[in-house]
Parts: sequence; C-alpha cells; structure tokens
Amino acid sequence: MGKVILITGAGGFLGGKLASAIHEDPELTGFRLILVDVIEPRAPPHSNAITIKADLTDPAQADALFNTQYGVYDTVYCLHGIMSRGSEDNFDFGVKVNVDSVRAVLDAARHHGQKTGQLIKFIFTSSLAVYGGPLPDVIQSDTIATPQSAYGMGKLVDEIFINEYTRRGFVDGRILRLPTIVVRPGAPSAAASSFVSGIIREPLQGLESVCPIGDSLTSPELDLPLWLASPDVIIRNFLITRQISATRLLAHTRVVCLPGFTATVREEIAALEEVAGKEAVTLIKFEDDPTNRRVVSSWPSRFDNSYALSLGFIADSGGMVPIVRRFQQQLKAGSV
Ligand SMILES: NC(=O)c1ccc[n+]([C@@H]2O[C@H](COP(=O)([O-])OP(=O)(O)OC[C@H]3O[C@@H](n4cnc5c(N)ncnc54)[C@H](O)[C@@H]3O)[C@@H](O)[C@H]2O)c1
Repeated sequence: MGKVILITGAGGFLGGKLASAIHEDPELTGFRLILVDVIEPRAPPHSNAITIKADLTDPAQADALFNTQYGVYDTVYCLHGIMSRGSEDNFDFGVKVNVDSVRAVLDAARHHGQKTGQLIKFIFTSSLAVYGGPLPDVIQSDTIATPQSAYGMGKLVDEIFINEYTRRGFVDGRILRLPTIVVRPGAPSAAASSFVSGIIREPLQGLESVCPIGDSLTSPELDLPLWLASPDVIIRNFLITRQISATRLLAHTRVVCLPGFTATVREEIAALEEVAGKEAVTLIKFEDDPTNRRVVSSWPSRFDNSYALSLGFIADSGGMVPIVRRFQQQLKAGSV
C-alpha cells in the first residue's frame, strides 16, 4: 500500500500550489495525493491524485476522507478555511469553518490513525493574526498570543486542540504561523491585507490598484512595516515541515512561526519601481482608509526567526525586489 498525503483547501491558493509541489518533488514519488475542497479541486496535470469535493463542516464528510483503500495516511495538510475578513464579518460561519470543521478533520485523522496504528502528521496553517493587543517590538517563540479578531481567535483555538492531540499521541501535530504572503496572484479580495499584493500585482499588469495606506507617495503612513514571505518560500517550508523529526520540536508546543522578513509599504513600492519603472508606480492610487490602516498596523511586523531557522526552515533573501521580479516573470510566462 502506498503512502497518502491529504490536503484540505486544495482548491485554494496555497493548497493548489502545494499539490503541484508535492507532485513535482522526486522524493515524494509514489505518494498518493488526496485533494479536498468545498469547490471541486483540480489535480496537477498527469498526476494520480484523487480529488474530493466535500464540505468539511459536515463531520461525516470529514470522516469519509480517511479510507484504507486509498493507502497508508502519512500526512494531512489542513489548509481549508475562510479568511480574515470573511470570519470577522460572519462570526458564526467563521467558527463553523475555521474551528468546528478543523476539529472534525483532526478527529477523523485521530480515529483513523488509531484504527490503523499510524501516527498521522497533522500540519496546520495558522497565522500572525493570533497576535494582537500590546506586543513586544520583536515577537519571540514564547510571546503570548492574544488575538483581536475572530480569525485569529479561531486559529488559536485550533492550535490548542492540535497541541493537546499531539501531547496525547492522537496525531503528530505541526502548526505553522504564516506571515502575510506576497505576491498573491488572482483578483483583489476583501481582506485587509489584500493591498499588500495588489499594489504589486495590478500595476505589473498595467492595471490601477488602490493603496489604502497614506494619501500620496510622500505620506509618512507608507513607513508602515509588514511581516512578509513569498509563496515559493512558504510552499518549500510546507514540504520541510513533514521532514522535521518530532524530537527536534519544542516539547510543550508544536507552534512554529515560519520565517519572514520586514518590509514597509514604501519599500514595496520602491521594489515595484526598480523592477517595472516609474510608470507602474503611477498606477497606485492612494485612498487612505483609517480602518484598514488600523487593522494592518495592529499586526506584528518583526519576529525572531531563529527557532524556525534552527529547525531547517528557509527564509526569503534579498527583500522585495527578487519577489517582484519573480512575479513579473511568472506573469510573462502565464504561470500565475
Ligand atoms: N495566504 C496568506 O497570506 C495566509 C496567511 C496566513 C495564513 N494562511 C492560511 O493558509 C491557509 C490557506 O490559505 P489560502 O491563501 O490558500 O486560502 P484560500 O482562500 O485560497 O483557500 C482556502 C480554501 O478552503 C476552502 N474551504 C473553505 N471552506 C471549506 C469547507 N467548509 N470545506 C472544504 N473546503 C473549504 C475554500 O474553498 C478554499 O479553496 C488558510 O488556512 C489560511 O488561513 C494564509
């Protein structure tokens, strides 16, 4: 029987990229991919992935993902969810998806693992949104998380369950707190962080983009720092996560803040100018939105990467310019 890697949220941005990366990884040849989403997920071309359309808020549909006929379950990447603004605007639905359905998948993995004698790796994507309120200048691995949003609260609740299930030997949990990802392809979203990618992505395509931070290129608000990582580094770190020996992780928590880097909004714009010229910058329209600015300003923007790096996780190097350049190349190649 072959080994199985299951991805929930495989129809989304990171889930889709992860599925392709696993399919293309020579070390994972022979693993069977099961891709799950509430929208029909797409299998990477020429793969033998199984695609399942399932609403994971229904525990029976979560249970049905685990079937000995598919193979021996090695890893679950639990990536499904609704994003920050969605869970803030609709609290009950946010809890149902971001907490209840994650617990349903966790329980299904636990019970299947116990039945088959397999300790399943349960890799979960948390977020810097677990932090809020007064924070130190640099977030350390022992900084207490006090979320100030429904999204951050839901992620923290999931983390506590996964840590407890790990302590009890139900699963082998690994929890990744992600930075804001830049450049995210696709259409602008209602997320407060949407502009972080939008002010690069749209101008590179000759389109206007609204920056809700500051009134003009000279506004002091543009010095707002952000904690960022590129999609490529995030996906490589997802792959590294399942290779780390459990004995190297802290005994009392499976939380790891994935490495990121700090860049200000002004530095993002400077990188756009360096890669695509002044004309691209003129496509950014400044419409200062104090509410959006307050939300983004409340997020931490500096973390101590040393624990994550000591485990073998990788970080972006070179700041924003190589990330903007790579996205421009991907646009030209039609691969995003
Ligand atoms: N992209 C980022 O900047 C970022 C930052 C921090 C954390 N994260 C976390 O990473 C994970 C993936 O993020 P993404 O950017 O790929 O998000 P995404 O919105 O692109 O993908 C999420 C997927 O979950 C699916 N989903 C929602 N409800 C479902 C349900 N009931 N049953 C099954 N599937 C359901 C959606 O259909 C969607 O395809 C999420 O858990 C997110 O919270 C992302």
